Amino acid sequence: MSSHLVAPSLLAADFRHLDRAIDLVNTSEADWFHLDVMDGRFVPNISFGQFIIEQIAQGAEKYVDVHLMIEDPGRYIESFARAGANGITVHAEACTHLHRVVQQIKESGAKAGVALNPHTPVSHLENVIEDLDTVLIMTVNPGFGGQKFIYQSIPKLRQTRDLITVHNSRAVIEVDGGIGLQNAQKVLEAGARVLVAGSAVFGADDPAAVISQLKAIDANPVA
Ligand code: DX5
Ligand code: ZN
Repeated sequence: MSSHLVAPSLLAADFRHLDRAIDLVNTSEADWFHLDVMDGRFVPNISFGQFIIEQIAQGAEKYVDVHLMIEDPGRYIESFARAGANGITVHAEACTHLHRVVQQIKESGAKAGVALNPHTPVSHLENVIEDLDTVLIMTVNPGFGGQKFIYQSIPKLRQTRDLITVHNSRAVIEVDGGIGLQNAQKVLEAGARVLVAGSAVFGADDPAAVISQLKAIDANPVA
């Protein structure tokens, strides 16, 4: 029985057959749906918004994890919650008033997450960590699937774990970007609890088998 979670990112799915991708996640050992919202401003790419998320959420039988890569996300928290998000993650870099946005997420009824870009120090979370359910450590620069994992993220995961411990926070660490069978064990050992994987899952011949393999990794966090 693994204690970590696998969250396939639908960004890498074939959107001509979204129903197949939804069924795949529902029937596999995956734990969460990871949905990436991009606005073409905070990140250079544009993906999808509430309309698509609402349709996915209607078919999803598992937790819907919405990752907002958008400027000023406070404007949209309520509408993403209404669309069916169970968890909403905003970027620290995109919020002038991060504390307020975290409270908005909690008031919406969704679990609250904050994401950090690779260049953003973990210390930026110090004053909100106690209110968080998830901390998302970007292991690539956000905006695109299929990028190469940034290895400097490993010590950052340990720092995040330490911050969570010091503050006695319930937050779990999610990793996102370039995650696959080649590095999953390492990130789990450094403290990650949720593995987001896009191309490693949907780019595989047998996505359900990759999900099972990711779930089967046996990793004990190293002190
Ligand atoms: C990147 C997104 C990721 C992306 C991951 O900006 O936040 O969730 O879909 O894709 P892979 O696993 O292919 O790096
Ligand atoms: Zn993501």
